[in-house]
Amino acid sequence: MNTYNKVPLSFTKGQGVWLWDDKGNRYLDTIAALAVNILGYNHPALVALMREKVSDLIHVSNLYHIPEQENLAVRLCNISGLGKAFFANSGAEANETAIKLARLYGQQKGFENPKIISMTKGFHGRTMAMVSQYLNNPVSHQFSPLLPGILNVPFNDIEALEKMIVDNREIVAIFMEPIQGEAGVILPQPNYLQQVRQLCNRYDVLLILDEVQTAMGRTGKFFAFEHSQIMPDIVTLAKGLANGLPIGVCLAKNHIADLFKPGFHGSTFGGNPFVCAIADKVLDIIDDQDFLDKVADTGAYLYDQLKQQLGNIGEIKTIRGVGLMIGIEFYEDCKDLQAHALKAGILINIMHQNIVRIVPPLIMTKAECDHLVLKLKAAIQSSCCDVSKIL
Ligand SMILES: Cc1ncc(COP(=O)(O)O)c(C=O)c1O
Repeated sequence: MNTYNKVPLSFTKGQGVWLWDDKGNRYLDTIAALAVNILGYNHPALVALMREKVSDLIHVSNLYHIPEQENLAVRLCNISGLGKAFFANSGAEANETAIKLARLYGQQKGFENPKIISMTKGFHGRTMAMVSQYLNNPVSHQFSPLLPGILNVPFNDIEALEKMIVDNREIVAIFMEPIQGEAGVILPQPNYLQQVRQLCNRYDVLLILDEVQTAMGRTGKFFAFEHSQIMPDIVTLAKGLANGLPIGVCLAKNHIADLFKPGFHGSTFGGNPFVCAIADKVLDIIDDQDFLDKVADTGAYLYDQLKQQLGNIGEIKTIRGVGLMIGIEFYEDCKDLQAHALKAGILINIMHQNIVRIVPPLIMTKAECDHLVLKLKAAIQSSCCDVSKIL
């Protein structure tokens, strides 16, 4: 179906942060299959484990105990400090789980029409409940009627959030990304997430953080919420957790998770032994302080280099980010840049016509950062910018 505007390119192999197309051209990948391939391509430990596991057991149903799943749940609960896990196959499904839990929580409080506040320009996936979160997005309204009980406030506007809670009855949860990824890497203002947490405490509202894109070390900490020293009530994960195999997880505090009873929720494929074993191996590598520190260090280096090398280009409005999640915002449409970047041998993702999002594999080295900055500068020089301003 006609759901993507595809780049006329296909890949035949990958290694580390590099991909090769069917003509043998090599590209440095700053997209990582949309922030998924956190350990890059052809990671030896993952490939070896997959070979071993595939002849073991790929799939059994959730009608039975799945030790790999139970082990992964315990690990993720220990890392997050939350109580229980539900396994799905994608970010949107993990978020659906969170929304169902929030509604149960509302019912428990006697709410007839529990309402969820989500953020303008947030992104949580493409299922009906998720497109219903984006009240200002015209695409959402193609699928009317949307799920009721959703309110939106702008990200980073704590007054608007408090007013929304006070002015509306039966608010049950705030549902948000700690850093807005698809909006173009929009960072929370200092203390914003702490203030959101305080509002949740004050008004007995659940804080649901969608860490589908930001967790698994992307920002230099396992979860982005750790930068704000807050604790959410529910967290959702997906993308990089199994380095390219489909997985989604909803983690919740015990008293919320326990609202589910058998039959309330489920998934045919979610939490199967194969995917969970691979995710467990991913955790062996990324749930490590040295690994996370290295992501933070490489991210800071890349950010500095981008600032130094591209900071004086008049067409660039801002460069922002944390860890290996960086956005370069242009004043004007820069979508031509993509073709120039391809010629320069780098894969970049342009969002909203004017923001380059950089979410490479977390194993990127500083030498690869240097290569990226050099090639990106060359691509910018040959596309939209006045060369005299760059030299
Ligand atoms: C923050 C966030 N939540 C949810 C999703 C949806 O994930 P999926 O495409 O796996 O359903 C995405 C995808 O980009 C995302 O960035």
